[in-house]
Amino acid sequence: MICFSVKLVYVNIILTLSRSVDGSYCDSMSSLLLPMVVLQCTYVVEALQVIGGNVKVVQGGTAILPCHVTGTNDDLTQITWQRRTREKPHNDNFLTILPREGVQFVNGGDDRFKYIGNFNNKNGTLQLSNVALKDEGRYTCIFTLFPSGNQKTEILLIVIVPPFTNIKDNLPTLGTEEVLFATCTAAGSKPPAEVRWLTDALGEKVRTTTNSTQYDNDTTTTVSSLFGVPTSEINGHQVQCVISSDAMSKEETLPFSIQIYFPPTEVNIRAISENSFECVTEANPSANFTWSRSAQSFLQSAVKVDGAKLQLLSLTSDLNGLYQCEASNAYGTKHGQLYVHVASGTCSAAWASFAIFLLLNVIGAAAWWFFKSGYFQRFFPVHGDEHSDPRSPSSPGDDHGQDHQKLQRELSR
Ligand SMILES: *[C@@H]1O[C@H](CO)[C@@H](O)[C@H](O)[C@H]1NC(C)=O
Ligand SMILES: *[C@@H]1O[C@H](CO)[C@@H](O)[C@H](O)[C@H]1NC(C)=O
Ligand SMILES: *[C@@H]1O[C@H](CO)[C@@H](O)[C@H](O)[C@H]1NC(C)=O
Ligand SMILES: *[C@@H]1O[C@H](CO)[C@@H](O)[C@H](O)[C@H]1NC(C)=O
Repeated sequence: MICFSVKLVYVNIILTLSRSVDGSYCDSMSSLLLPMVVLQCTYVVEALQVIGGNVKVVQGGTAILPCHVTGTNDDLTQITWQRRTREKPHNDNFLTILPREGVQFVNGGDDRFKYIGNFNNKNGTLQLSNVALKDEGRYTCIFTLFPSGNQKTEILLIVIVPPFTNIKDNLPTLGTEEVLFATCTAAGSKPPAEVRWLTDALGEKVRTTTNSTQYDNDTTTTVSSLFGVPTSEINGHQVQCVISSDAMSKEETLPFSIQIYFPPTEVNIRAISENSFECVTEANPSANFTWSRSAQSFLQSAVKVDGAKLQLLSLTSDLNGLYQCEASNAYGTKHGQLYVHVASGTCSAAWASFAIFLLLNVIGAAAWWFFKSGYFQRFFPVHGDEHSDPRSPSSPGDDHGQDHQKLQRELSR
């Protein structure tokens, strides 16, 4: 009789907990009372309960807000849903479900909500699709029963947001001081993401720091920075940035190749065959090559240029003169020069009768300058040229002075 008179209403999210409470209550009862009472206790186990459950969903996904009532034969007259979310911090009704009219929105509709329960089964379950962070909050499901009145439960909807990830190369240039190589970012993650660099092979040659910022909407941006001395040895090393978060189904690994940028080093001209040449330099990013001829333009029919390669098609004295190869990338420009002299003589003579001189690796822009200004009166094997980083233009006056002397020495030999 005691069991029967106690009206138990469990508004409890954790079903197992309420079961164990019921269980122990019944155990003690059954050991003391008649089987009749045990039967009544069974009724208590199935006492009226509104069952919900917390829900975690990834932003953009679909959430099921479960809610149903059990253990009652009362008449259900209405199901009401209330919410208190990031967007609407005041708890208010937003949806009602009536036996005849069906679903009715209280303050404007929202197509994303769909009633997927069943009124006859006292099931008020809702589905919310395309969940946004603003939807996060507490949803209350209320069953209006007759004669017992309103019974409700609260469902916590948690929205998780996977981060936007990227690596940004800070474009370090060759140097001797520690600089920032790159940053790896996990932006707008909820809960916060963990960001770390895998730099195994580099050991202590690199250093990392991690920094994070939390926004008002509880998303967090985490940035991990990779530092090191920008040497040529470290250039090209592979590292990885690993990002993990509860909001991601699996951790993400972004590969990164450390690139140290530098302008073209000295430009060399290499003979591929008797009549074709290639301009060679080291640069990062790779240099673009431009061949040109001093004073005159190329003889289209006699010369073929293909990137770094120059091919002399017909060996006639028309081709005589100084050719320049310019190697450039975003960090600077350097020149190499080739002096071509085709000895005048019988054209039927063998290739060997042509004298083609490679001018490699010496002197500055002066050679070019002297050539242009008429100093170059007779052939002599001048060598290459190296010059000019646009970022640090050398003082032309000084260079020309030195080179002038060097040239005069060679001329007077
Ligand atoms: C309530 O409805 C949902 C959606 O149709 C269903 O998944 C769930 O099993 C139902 N609950 C009960 C107790 O019938
Ligand atoms: C960390 O982030 C804060 C805020 O964005 C910024 O002011 C600070 O300079 C950062 N620190 C480092 C080491 O990047
Ligand atoms: C959270 O706030 C930050 C900063 O205002 C914003 O950039 C970001 O888009 C917001 N995230 C979401 C999921 O609304
Ligand atoms: C090199 O050539 C490529 C392809 O033509 C071009 O996209 C790039 O901008 C050039 N770089 C420089 C430094 O001129």
